[in-house]
Amino acid sequence: MAKTFDISRVGHVGIQVTDFDRSLAWYTGTLGLTLTGKWPMGEDGAIAFMRFNEDHHNIVLFTHPTEVDEETKNLGYNGLQHIAMEVKDRDEWLKALADLRRKGVEIVQGPLIHGPEGSMGPGNFMGGSGSRSFYFNDPDGNRLEIYADMMKVPNDEQFPRAEYADVFKK
Ligand SMILES: [Fe+2]
Repeated sequence: MAKTFDISRVGHVGIQVTDFDRSLAWYTGTLGLTLTGKWPMGEDGAIAFMRFNEDHHNIVLFTHPTEVDEETKNLGYNGLQHIAMEVKDRDEWLKALADLRRKGVEIVQGPLIHGPEGSMGPGNFMGGSGSRSFYFNDPDGNRLEIYADMMKVPNDEQFPRAEYADVFKK
């Protein structure tokens, strides 16, 4: 089939971990990643965004789920939560979404915006990166993401920004 959109790079990877605090300490301490932020997720879980450049996140840790549903069934058996491919802008992202839909690929989550500006979905929380995003599965059920417009958080800066963090508290 014809190629109708361009992927720029693998931008980040999501990893499921069984001991969240141990893994957070390992990725930040041993591997030297910078913590962008950590937020609660679900009843007992958490999510942590970490970076090694100015991207809001390059590695994301998720508490390994004990229960999965039809939408997230592939997340129950392995450590890889998802692999995310970046496209250069909104236009390329829309091209990718249209192209995959025309090819019959099921979009299992999204399209959505990660952050308080998103109108719906699990990505609608303060910790989100502002990315436009959608998710789909490869033939083995590995979860893939295509995104654009992730915000930058240089290493000496904070996220959320102090000047707007309180506005989005829920
Ligand atoms: Fe992601």
